[in-house]
Amino acid sequence: MEYKNFITIEGIDGAGKTTIINQLKKIFLVTKNKYLFKNREVIFTREPGNSGNEFLLKTRDLIVNYDILPITELFLLQANRAEHIQKFIYPNLKAKKIVICDRFTDSTFVYQGLKGIKDHQIKITNTLATLNVNPRTTYLIDIDPKLAQSRIIKNKRSINKFDTYDLNFHKNIRKRYLDLAKKNPKRFILINGEESLEKIIDIIIKDLNKRF
Ligand code: TYD
Repeated sequence: MEYKNFITIEGIDGAGKTTIINQLKKIFLVTKNKYLFKNREVIFTREPGNSGNEFLLKTRDLIVNYDILPITELFLLQANRAEHIQKFIYPNLKAKKIVICDRFTDSTFVYQGLKGIKDHQIKITNTLATLNVNPRTTYLIDIDPKLAQSRIIKNKRSINKFDTYDLNFHKNIRKRYLDLAKKNPKRFILINGEESLEKIIDIIIKDLNKRF
């Protein structure tokens, strides 16, 4: 089932998702750690989840920092996702809050798919983990992987395993994202990540204004 108040942001490493989300947080901030959009509370979160919960923090660390088999990665991601969605995201959706999540199940199709896990295997584990709770809207920040790599080198405080994969890997990730967007045109909003931050934020806010 799709939830209107569930929004995800996707894109290759270095596409600028973190910068965009930080800017949205600045715009929506009303009091310490409380975010509002048109009087609706906004919850920001990310996957692999790490929202203040020890299990999520530890599994995220295992996923992004250890050299493990793709299948191990899939199981860890889905364990992290099940805890994240069923205990944190879903209750917030039910409470009518807007949940904006940095990466979600599309990342699994794209990354673990590229690492050789079959689509139908990803699909069934996604469904098991999420209990079919899905976003209505996904902003895909699309960018040339070369530019993304130079941004990672320039801006990043900590480099994880995924950032060290070569240019070819990231080119394939981009291609997979664009294929997914083509297959799901109603859900995906394609945003050119090479535009200015101002322009990108403007596109997102205008789109949110239409939805809420
Ligand atoms: P991310 O939070 O984007 O890293 P950071 O903001 O620290 O750069 O995500 C970490 C990595 O996890 C990212 O490179 C992609 C990977 N990932 C998957 O491979 N599959 C998934 O399902 C998810 C959610 C993430």
